[in-house]
Amino acid sequence: MKLRIPIIAALIVVLLTACGGSGGGGGGLAAPEPPPPVADVPNLYALAPGNMPVGVAVPAGGASNSVLTSMPRQTIVDDHFSQITAENIMKPSFLHPGANSYFFDDADALIDYAVSQGKTVHGHVLIWHQQLPAWMQNFSGNATEWTNMMENHVDTIVRHFAVRNPGVVVSWDVVNEAFTDSDANMDGMTELRDTIWLQGIGPDYIADAFRTAKAADFDADLYYNDYNLAGIPEKLAAVLDMVDQFANDPNPVPIDGIGFQMHVSLDWPPIGDIASALAAAAATGLKVRISELDVTVNTDSAGNPGPLTQLTAAVAAQQQQRYHDIVSAYLDAVPAAQRGGIAVWGIADVDSWRRNNNPDEWPLLFDDQFQPKPALQGFADGLTGN
Ligand code: XIL
Repeated sequence: MKLRIPIIAALIVVLLTACGGSGGGGGGLAAPEPPPPVADVPNLYALAPGNMPVGVAVPAGGASNSVLTSMPRQTIVDDHFSQITAENIMKPSFLHPGANSYFFDDADALIDYAVSQGKTVHGHVLIWHQQLPAWMQNFSGNATEWTNMMENHVDTIVRHFAVRNPGVVVSWDVVNEAFTDSDANMDGMTELRDTIWLQGIGPDYIADAFRTAKAADFDADLYYNDYNLAGIPEKLAAVLDMVDQFANDPNPVPIDGIGFQMHVSLDWPPIGDIASALAAAAATGLKVRISELDVTVNTDSAGNPGPLTQLTAAVAAQQQQRYHDIVSAYLDAVPAAQRGGIAVWGIADVDSWRRNNNPDEWPLLFDDQFQPKPALQGFADGLTGN
């Protein structure tokens, strides 16, 4: 009984010391330093050479974090980005909920917001295998019926925006993620993904979607968009081969650009691989975009959460460097006339889809309180060549 109190008192002393009460000696249990406050960059997009778009994916429609009902998010978008992408509400399940019904109200409201702020819009996405409406997923028909269904879908959506707000949706992701990640037949290129589109129409669905989109809006830039194009050489090879076939078609397929989603981590893919993949895409002569940039700091290559429970100053500095290096590599690799721009996939960390997999992630340029992170300075310095 008598011994207990001194033992508890000693324990408390030990704990207090370990928790950094002494001001941050290198003890293993010391709380890591959070990132220091960062000075805001006045206008990120104004730093971009040659008016290259600097974009951001925004939540809208019924989302609780919709940019249309959030002042702090609007402030960030208005200040820093010249282009927006709907994070979800311009996907097939939102725009084309029934076989004979389209729903444009939420997208139109977002477009009106973009117009009011002088922003352009990148359209995402016409043809994908995810976020499909149930009726489309369950569609049955012969190849002609599938083709008609797809062409109507692409034509109606592209035409809607081109007619309602000419020149605002300046580009589209026409086809997203059509290739697999592994080169099953070992020919140096990954294969076409087994989707409803491939099954219903065959490999020509991609060219057909591009032709249909071009006929609906001659002025919009049309992109093929995918992830890991910088990390899986066989996947990039498949896309470059497709582009080559499009160019050599007797009736060339109207593709304007290649979109690199660029959902990356601090160390994968290595920056040299990112630089060479961007350069290889630019060598096609097409435009090149970084379309969905985010940088995870606490997720391993298998997708497992890492040990961090808060973003530390040291890791935030690594993320700053990573943003800098990617932006800089893009500007080095892609000639000015071919720059479709760089877009980040979300406004603030609290919005990031990477948190679905790991709540302890901080992949974006602004923190949960909508304050600028070191990553913002890294992006800015990448743009200005600092
Ligand atoms: C994601 C959104 O960020 C999430 O909110 C949604 O639940 C799933 O889709 N590649 C794409 C984007 O092309 O459309 C995805 O967006 C992220 C991966």
